[in-house]
Amino acid sequence: MDPAYRALGRAQSVRWTSTGVVLEAPPARLEIRCLAPDLIRVELIPRPDLPEPLPFSRSETEFPPPAVTQEEQDGRLILATEAVRVEIETDPIRLTFRDGEGRVIDRDDPELGMGWRYETVHTFRQAQPGERVYGLGEKTGHLDKRGRRWTMWARDVLPHLPTTDPLYQAIPFYLVWKEGRVHGFFLENTFRSHFDMDSDGSGRYHIWAEGGRLVYYLLAGPTFPQVLERYTQLTGRMPLPPRWSLGYHQSRWGYLTQQEVAEVARTFRERRLPCDVIHLDIDYMDGFRVFTWHPDRFPDPEALCARLKEQGFRVVTIVDPGVKKDPSYAFFQEGLEAGLYVEAPSGEPVTGQVWPGEVHFPDFLQERTRRWWGDAHRALLDRGVAGIWNDMNEPVIFDARDEDRTLPETAVHRTDQGEVRQHREVHNLYGLLMGKATYEGLRRLRPEERPFLLTRSGFAGIQRYAAVWTGDNSSWWEHLAMSIPMLLNLGLSGVAFVGPDIGGFSEDATPELMVRWMQLGAFYPFCRNHSAKTFRRQEPWTFGPEVEALAREALELRYQLLPYLYTRFWEAHTRGWPIMRPLVWHAPDDPVAARTEDAFFVGADLLVAPVLQPGARERLVYLPQGEWVDFWTGTCYEGGAHQVVEAPLERIPLFVRAGAALPLGPVIQHTGEAGWARLILRLFPGTRPSRWQGTLYEDDGASLAYEQGVSSRRSLQVTVETDRLLLEVGEPQGPYRPDREVIQVELPFLAEPPRQVRLDGRAVPTATLVDRERNLLRVALSQEGAHRLEIAW
Ligand code: GLC
Repeated sequence: MDPAYRALGRAQSVRWTSTGVVLEAPPARLEIRCLAPDLIRVELIPRPDLPEPLPFSRSETEFPPPAVTQEEQDGRLILATEAVRVEIETDPIRLTFRDGEGRVIDRDDPELGMGWRYETVHTFRQAQPGERVYGLGEKTGHLDKRGRRWTMWARDVLPHLPTTDPLYQAIPFYLVWKEGRVHGFFLENTFRSHFDMDSDGSGRYHIWAEGGRLVYYLLAGPTFPQVLERYTQLTGRMPLPPRWSLGYHQSRWGYLTQQEVAEVARTFRERRLPCDVIHLDIDYMDGFRVFTWHPDRFPDPEALCARLKEQGFRVVTIVDPGVKKDPSYAFFQEGLEAGLYVEAPSGEPVTGQVWPGEVHFPDFLQERTRRWWGDAHRALLDRGVAGIWNDMNEPVIFDARDEDRTLPETAVHRTDQGEVRQHREVHNLYGLLMGKATYEGLRRLRPEERPFLLTRSGFAGIQRYAAVWTGDNSSWWEHLAMSIPMLLNLGLSGVAFVGPDIGGFSEDATPELMVRWMQLGAFYPFCRNHSAKTFRRQEPWTFGPEVEALAREALELRYQLLPYLYTRFWEAHTRGWPIMRPLVWHAPDDPVAARTEDAFFVGADLLVAPVLQPGARERLVYLPQGEWVDFWTGTCYEGGAHQVVEAPLERIPLFVRAGAALPLGPVIQHTGEAGWARLILRLFPGTRPSRWQGTLYEDDGASLAYEQGVSSRRSLQVTVETDRLLLEVGEPQGPYRPDREVIQVELPFLAEPPRQVRLDGRAVPTATLVDRERNLLRVALSQEGAHRLEIAW
């Protein structure tokens, strides 16, 4: 480390506080606080005049103070909760975090500890052999983030290459996995920050930020679900999205007219390709002025939205932050007169070139700017727009001098208290603050409806406001493959509602790539096909009948999976768990699972192993411990091993955890079809005894009544014995009742008809239940009440 680095030295005084300790090592001060048994906050203040971190990444959760013990032992200070023991050496000050059994969770590097160098603040942490690193938000590269150096600085780059870093999102949070135990580290600092995760193999993680205080949170885990629950308690969880936003979204930069959009929508219905949402990219605007409509090309947006709505589509419009510098444009003038734009140190609003030409940038740090901005969405919602897509919100400036293409670091933002904060501190928050402005505006404007917002940029906590798509990828097989580790790590960073541009944004997709991407895309939490103007179109029919037919099957599967998926969104909302999960999430002790990045879980019961190479018609799949049933053929596999499975162009390898009951819907064309009235519980018992438990969550999918508990949860349980299967469906909990009378239970891949079927204690003649042609057993349960279905052979 360079000689200007000052590591924290000897503590000159120590003061215990109610849940922590304060150490003075002038000019610095170190504060340690236990927020929860497994959550420790550490704050190094190198100089007394440094302000607190901007608070926007945190949710408003109050943490009830945990019980802590405080003592001195052999010259060390010990601060302990029931889950963590923080050992503090005082000369020089070094921290070690241990778990209840005394194992080291994480510790300062003994030599370099934490400290500062001019304006920058640093922590050096010991990297243990065998540790893997996950999280860090939206990054290129592999699932394991160890061995590279990563930067947090929201940035627009095209194209992404394997080495490109950073991208649009800045999420300074990572998880460390070792031998089945997991902990988390969240750096609460909005300046540009760097995560050198042992890139030189020296056994150190070096995390540093270019300004501010060093504030971090140690999340003790020791499991993935625990770390994510805590992290999202701290930074917030996603609200439940409107159900329509879980459907398929079609987008393209290049829908130039209202007629063209109507035509695309009509074609979806005509060809019976399920779809819920059409996105309007920048061309709907008048000269790219935000909150306007192009008078010739989109003369009657109200009629367009209404017509699409009748056909079961919602419209999402793009909104970029730059406001066109044009004195005759009222919205621009309003912002100027009220002083709502980011300023240069001279006091003039900063000007930059984006799509509209010269623009000014709203200062979203101020509440009054956020209100003004949020309210302006009336011009879109009043015409029938259903959701908003925020782009260019790093923010990007085309003609900026440096390669980061953004506002100057010295540009001026103001807090609500009128304090000046430089862009270098606010930059990483820009997308999140724009998201906050938009989300809150949508809630004000449509207080009965769930907002839908999509964003490109964001910071830790962005999940409270928006879904995230991963920006301008390319129609490359490499980007198809990279989407998996990228989304998995975003999910592990608290952002569950994620997806890339299906088919790729730049470059021309080949028909085969399109098929494979649609098949994988059916499992992305956010499922949108989007492409760039100068490249070939990507609507499924534009590749000919074979691709269209296979895309249709992929979309039909997506829609059938919606009841299962929706319950996963509820888990993300209530617990902060990702929807798309790495294998290691459910197989934490398995070192092969820990490095698998070509397959993933959706929820706990579906394992998806997409084809990622052209021409491949089989692939190697690693299945973790347990038994797995091929969704398509019923073939059972024993886990804990690699399997070679068939992967014809028609289908994506897909496995169900043996024992699971999958809640499925019928094939529908859009979520507004009353399809949710039908629910199928499909059973996959496997070949050996097992016990499985799950939940089905339902609500109206549109209103905010769920916030008041208007929902329905039912427990599902399957017990498989040698010659008997028992399905127990719990009584619905909560006041919501879907409009349906029966639940269809399906048992596919029936080798022989059962000897006996009993429903709620009464025998049902089996002959009436078996569909011999399809080797399927079907039993209808009434929607009301609890049920026991026994099937015996
Ligand atoms: C940016 C976005 C892209 C959009 C384009 C035009 O490149 O990332 O999705 O289509 O701008 O608005």
